[in-house]
Amino acid sequence: MKKIVIDPITRIEGHLRAEVEVDESGVVQEAYVSGQLFRGIEIILKGRDPRDAGLMAGRICGVCTNSHFRGAVSAVEDAYSLTIPKNAEIIRDLMAMALFIQDHVVHFYHLHSLDFVDITSALQADAKLTSKEAHRYSDKPFRNSNAHYEETIKKLQNFVDAGKLGPFSNGYWGHSDYKLTSEQNLIMISHYLEALKFQTKISKAVAIFGGKTPHPQSIVVGGITSVADMLNPQRLNDYLFVMKEAKEFIDRTYLPDAKLLATAYRDEIKAGVGRANGNFMSVGGYEFEGEEKLFCSGIVYGHDFENIEEFDESKITEEVDRAWYKGEEVFYTDLNEDGSLKTEKNDDKYSWIKAPRYDGKVMETGPLARVLISYKKDNTLIKSFVDEFLEATDLELIDLSTTVGRNAARAIETGYICEYIFKLVSRLIQNVKYYDTDTWTKYDFEKLPKDAKGRVFLEVPRGTLSHFVSIKNQKIDNYSVIAPTTWNATPKNFDGLRGAYEEALIGVKIEDTAKPLEVLRVLHSFDPCLACAVHIVDTKGKELSRYKIKSI
Ligand code: NI
Repeated sequence: MKKIVIDPITRIEGHLRAEVEVDESGVVQEAYVSGQLFRGIEIILKGRDPRDAGLMAGRICGVCTNSHFRGAVSAVEDAYSLTIPKNAEIIRDLMAMALFIQDHVVHFYHLHSLDFVDITSALQADAKLTSKEAHRYSDKPFRNSNAHYEETIKKLQNFVDAGKLGPFSNGYWGHSDYKLTSEQNLIMISHYLEALKFQTKISKAVAIFGGKTPHPQSIVVGGITSVADMLNPQRLNDYLFVMKEAKEFIDRTYLPDAKLLATAYRDEIKAGVGRANGNFMSVGGYEFEGEEKLFCSGIVYGHDFENIEEFDESKITEEVDRAWYKGEEVFYTDLNEDGSLKTEKNDDKYSWIKAPRYDGKVMETGPLARVLISYKKDNTLIKSFVDEFLEATDLELIDLSTTVGRNAARAIETGYICEYIFKLVSRLIQNVKYYDTDTWTKYDFEKLPKDAKGRVFLEVPRGTLSHFVSIKNQKIDNYSVIAPTTWNATPKNFDGLRGAYEEALIGVKIEDTAKPLEVLRVLHSFDPCLACAVHIVDTKGKELSRYKIKSI
């Protein structure tokens, strides 16, 4: 057995380490993933005014700022039983949807695509053939002229000639597991560069109603403050303009490129590479039409999609047997003498990430979980997107539960969010037109209960996010967060169960142990956000809202 250590894993947010044990044929037999940086935003929140929770919780992460901002404000609203006006909810949703699109595009192109795309091979591409190849995945490929591809090759050659690969340095270029043709590589690189420009455009959409981004500031307990923006038709037009561009970009680059990858890596998909244990969780959400939601909620065990259970928050527990906490203290244990994590004994601690469980089971959360659960629960909007993708790539639903499939699910989700956004804006316009301009539910803070507990469950780009707040004497007494990456990157526990990251690595064959590209691929497919993932556990086992943390 040989151990491969990757630390730090780059092209993610935060500090993640992975150790995998491979047999003599290079097949992963065991895996340990570890959150490597202690955080402590919850400590900062203690003793603060609950109305400030959002602005501080937003600082949990520099990427998911809007998700934690909204999560914290919503948890406080739940504690005070405040219902916000419809318009405020729509504005919050419009900000959230823009963030979904931004996150997914940045993840696919800038954080993950280079695990599949060989830059050096793109230099050999023929511009004319590239243009032809792009037409296999889209009727109207984005910037598909010969001149554009020739210019892209020139740009890449300049990087190489200068001896500085810039964003493309330190790749495993030439690795035998890169399967795209030179022309396919060039298409992807062209879109990688275009997606850099796209990032700035889509960020504007969050900022239109958020004041700025990252760290928008227009959500307040009871509603929103961007009232003038909501009532100004020009601002709505600005938002719609960005979204129309976004939709075009998604339709002409992201979805076709996801199809290209799914076609080129078909063998891996069919072999189930990167599949975790098939337990999926979604809390659903985002009002669509009537009772229908953008995402359906549900719990799936072992890929059994015919028996989707209802989500029940009382089944969530958190434990820290193998995380660096003990009693009321953080408890960091040193590494082994060779610098590896202590993992030999079943109570050895190896991560700052605590271990959430649903009914005692590990869960995968994120776009894949949402897409699968929503599809199987007959969500009308998503069904056509999934069917179209599966037909175009000749794949089945189960194939999405793989490394490449996880990316396909994310692209599908982005596509249907783009459709949904326009319906959401129409609803807002209709509301405002019929003189419902409410944006804030009035309350007198002094008259609110002195002691209260609240929580919220939200679907955010990387999966299910929950915030829990306990208020005593109008100050935050206790705060707790379970982020999507906490679920997916959970360490083992006394239960010995591997989390989604660890389980997805088992059985993966590594061609060259000096260049463990295959490990990066699996981990990146989850879009790790480690700053989000690390949260201290309430070790006293206090009850937060209607939710109980299991004490050790
Ligand atoms: Ni984050």
